[in-house]
Amino acid sequence: MIREMREKLKLRRDPYRPSLHLTPAQGWINDPNGFIYFGGQYHVFAQYYDAKPEWGPMMWLHCTSPDMMTFTRLPDALYPSEDYDYEKGCFSGSAIERDGKMYLMYTGTSHSDTQTQCLASSSDGIHFEKYAFNPVIDGGDLPAGYSPKDFRDPCVFEREESYYVLLASRRDDVHYSILMYRSSDLVDWTFVGVTLECEAVGCDLLECPNLAHVDGKDVLLVSGKCATVEYPNSQNCIWGLIGHLDLETGHFEVESKRRLDLGFDSYATHMVRTPEGRTLMVAWMSAWGSTYPTQKYGWCGQFSLPREVSIRDGQLVLNPARELFTYECQLADSVTNLKEAKKLLAAHCGRFLDVTLTVDTAVEGASINLGNGADRLVLKLEKDHLVIDRSHSGIEIQTVTRKDDFIRYIPLAAGQSQLKLRVIADASLVEIFADDGRADACVRIYPHKVDYNIELEGFNHGQIELDRLAVLKA
Ligand code: FRU
Repeated sequence: MIREMREKLKLRRDPYRPSLHLTPAQGWINDPNGFIYFGGQYHVFAQYYDAKPEWGPMMWLHCTSPDMMTFTRLPDALYPSEDYDYEKGCFSGSAIERDGKMYLMYTGTSHSDTQTQCLASSSDGIHFEKYAFNPVIDGGDLPAGYSPKDFRDPCVFEREESYYVLLASRRDDVHYSILMYRSSDLVDWTFVGVTLECEAVGCDLLECPNLAHVDGKDVLLVSGKCATVEYPNSQNCIWGLIGHLDLETGHFEVESKRRLDLGFDSYATHMVRTPEGRTLMVAWMSAWGSTYPTQKYGWCGQFSLPREVSIRDGQLVLNPARELFTYECQLADSVTNLKEAKKLLAAHCGRFLDVTLTVDTAVEGASINLGNGADRLVLKLEKDHLVIDRSHSGIEIQTVTRKDDFIRYIPLAAGQSQLKLRVIADASLVEIFADDGRADACVRIYPHKVDYNIELEGFNHGQIELDRLAVLKA
C-alpha cells in the first residue's frame, strides 16, 4: 500500500513530461508510423510497448488529432497475435486509403527471425483486422543477395493508379538498400528495383524510408547508422533527399541531400499530407543507444512537434508547423534593446518557451543559455558554427557512441553575418531551428529544475535582436 502510494507520488512529481509533444501515458514509444488524414482527422500511430518504459514486442499505439498538435488515444491498432508477427511484434510501417478503407502495412517479425510485410485494414478507422493471407511480401520476393532477416519499414503510396512500397533490406549481409515494389491491389506485389543504396548517403544501415511529394519534387527521408564514418550522432542519422523517383526502374535520382537534425535526438521521421497540400514531418525525438531519465516516471519516448517540409533554393527546409501558433500566446516581438530583451526573457520562466532571436555571428564566444541556475543548455557562437552544449544541462545522458557525447554543431554558411535561431523548449525537450529551417537540432535535457528562462551572455547592444517570444496559452 505504502509502496503504491510512493509510486503514485513519484509519477505526479514528473517534471519532464512535455505539454505539447506526444508521449505515452506509460510504457515506451519509438518510431512514428502510419500517418494519414482519414475521415476528417489525422491518424497517428507509434511503435509502442505498454508493459514497461523500455523497448519490447511492438504494438501500434493509435491516436487521432485535428491538427497534429493534440491527440486523442484510441485502442491500440496492432499487437503481436500471429505466427508472422509474434516474435518481436509489429514493426514500423505506413497507411493508405483504398475504397474508403484504411490499410496499414507493417513489418511482421516471426520466430524464424525473418521480417515480412503484412496488411491490416479498418473501415471505421478504429478497429483493425489483419489480412487472412499475410504476409503479402516475404523473403521469397527479395532479389538475390538480400536478407529476409532485415527487410522492413514499408512506406506505401499510390502513383498513377498503382500502389508502390519502399522497403529497407540488407545486401550481402553488410550494406543496406531501399527497394521498391509495385501492386495493383495492395496484396500481390512485384519487385521493381533498387531505390537507393546506402553508399548514396554514406552510411552502413538504412531504415524507415519515407516519401512525399513536395513543391513538385520527390522528397525521400531515410534514417540510419554510420559506424565507419566520423559523424557526431553516428548511431542516429537522418538524411533528407530531394530528387526524382523513377516509377519504371524504382531508382531515386538524388538532386540534393542534407543531414536532418544536427542535434542528438531525432530518428525515424514520418510525413503526412495536410488536406490543403502541405507536408508535415514528425520524428521520434529520441535516440537508440542512450539513457532515458524519464523511465523512472514510467514512460519513455516522444514525438517531435510537427514540422512543415518545403524546398527553398533547391534545399530542404523544415520549420515548426504553423499549427503551433494556435497554442501559443505571443509576449513580445522585435525587441532590439538588449537590456529590454534580457529583462523580457528573464521574466518568463516556465516549462514552455518559444523564442526567436537574430544574433550577430561576429561575437565569438557569446552564448544563449537556456536554463535556470546551474543546469543549462548552452548555445555558443564560435568561428564557423553554433555549438550546442548539453554537458551541464542536468541529469547526464549517456550514449553508446561516446561517454562524453555532449556537443553538437550547427555550421554557419560561408560569409554569414547574422544567424536567426528559433528555440522551442517544452519540459525536457528542446527543438532548435536555424535560419528559417536551413538546419535543425533536437535535444533532450533533464535539468534538476524545469523552469526555463534565457540568459544572453557576451552580447552588446546591436548584436542581438529578440524577434519573438511566446509561451503556452493558459
Ligand atoms: C527504427 C526501427 C525500425 C523498426 C522499429 C522497431 O527505429 O528499428 O527499423 O521497424 O524501429 O521498433
